[in-house]
Amino acid sequence: MPTQEDSRPMDELRTRATVKDWRTDFDHFDTAFVADPDVIWADLRTTTPVAHSDRYGGLTVLTRWQDVAAVAANPSLFSSRRTIVDEVPTSRRLLPLPPLNIDPPEHAAQRRVLLPFFNAVATERWEQPVREICRQALDAMGERVDVDLAVDYAQVIPGELTAMMLGVPTTDVPQFRVWLHDLLEVGPTDVAVARRTTTKILDYLRGQLEQRRQHPGDDLVSYLIDQRIENQPVPDNEIVKMLVTILVAGIDTTWSGIGSSLMHLAGNAPDCWRLGAQPELIPGAVEEFLRFYPPGYPARIAQTNTEIGGRPIAAGEWVLLGLPAANRDPEMFDRPERLIIDRQANRHTSFGLGIHRCLGSNLARMEMGVAIEEFLARFPDFELRDPEAIVFSAGQVRGPRCIPARILARVDPPARSAATITPKPTGRSSFLTRIRRRMLA
Ligand code: HEM
Repeated sequence: MPTQEDSRPMDELRTRATVKDWRTDFDHFDTAFVADPDVIWADLRTTTPVAHSDRYGGLTVLTRWQDVAAVAANPSLFSSRRTIVDEVPTSRRLLPLPPLNIDPPEHAAQRRVLLPFFNAVATERWEQPVREICRQALDAMGERVDVDLAVDYAQVIPGELTAMMLGVPTTDVPQFRVWLHDLLEVGPTDVAVARRTTTKILDYLRGQLEQRRQHPGDDLVSYLIDQRIENQPVPDNEIVKMLVTILVAGIDTTWSGIGSSLMHLAGNAPDCWRLGAQPELIPGAVEEFLRFYPPGYPARIAQTNTEIGGRPIAAGEWVLLGLPAANRDPEMFDRPERLIIDRQANRHTSFGLGIHRCLGSNLARMEMGVAIEEFLARFPDFELRDPEAIVFSAGQVRGPRCIPARILARVDPPARSAATITPKPTGRSSFLTRIRRRMLA
């Protein structure tokens, strides 16, 4: 069990040079952007859809759907070798996380190793455990009227599920949270913190790999030990890096997705009541929450001097895929600035586009849908207690980290026997079946 250390506070953000002109000096760590990025994204898309900033050694910011899609579709010109913008020169190779930071041709084989664990059928075994995690988090809220939707509920679900997938105790989850905060929110502007945190995560996962070699289980670590790439076992250091990818890619993103959805429902009673009365709308609503509140946006690195939309981009420059701006591009979406809970056509970019499209999208959709369904079944009415007190994370994974809310109606759960959470195949899972039906419609 790792020792939990205090996460570094984010005072440094306050000392960064404040952005005066977003069209020429973009910085996603600026406090104004962290607090309210939507108006900035919208202004850029209208006035400077391909914006350049000298920060981070040179950064181009894309805000149109077509430009984002074009770059994501061209991995030979725009490399994924680093996807989190930071202060380390892009000429340096940092720890590449497979398959996220691997370019073709190697990417396909790395992705293929993980796919069977995360495809739609494999995801079904996790639905019942996710429901149980949700119910236990709701039980833990007890009779309280004032709750924090982000801390008491949204963050619990992906953390505990990831621990279960890795075959580690849920008591390790608070440590994951500290690491992820340090890596995603502090590390990009503080190289030493990023390096220290990466070392701790690698040590922890190496330890898990050693343990699982001695005592195999029914988990992702044991699964990877049994896999082959080109008929060879996956080397230990590659397994460990894949596990880091899952830890980094799967927790804060999904926490953000669940938190944003509940934040929206707490602030929009008609949508809340409608989903409560018509749970069959939840799969479509999940897509609209993802479009409207995208949990993250990756970057690429230009491989050669090139241009987008007539704007030059130098080799080695960061290119930020502005998924949140693309998701509200009027060229692609009808009334993009409105969250339409039963929106039909919805080609949002929140799971990325191209070969690196999210490998955990089945799992993420299921977690979000089940989390919303279970919450509404227990608390059919709730409201924001203090909208001004909502706090968002900084950096390329964005979501509410504190959502004070008040419970207005409660339905007592039916008596249940003491629950044990074990992943079992559940046959056709109700939620995933509904997602599939919607996709085919
Ligand atoms: C709502 C939750 C999630 C969102 C919004 C999300 C978003 C994304 C995005 C935008 C990408 C593309 C990155 C790029 O193009 O550079 C991605 C890739 C990835 N995601 Fe997710 N993700 C979520 C949850 C998950 C979960 C739960 C897992 C697994 C447990 C996961 C695993 C991955 C992996 C492995 C990749 C890399 C795929 C590749 O490079 O081929 N994600 N995700």
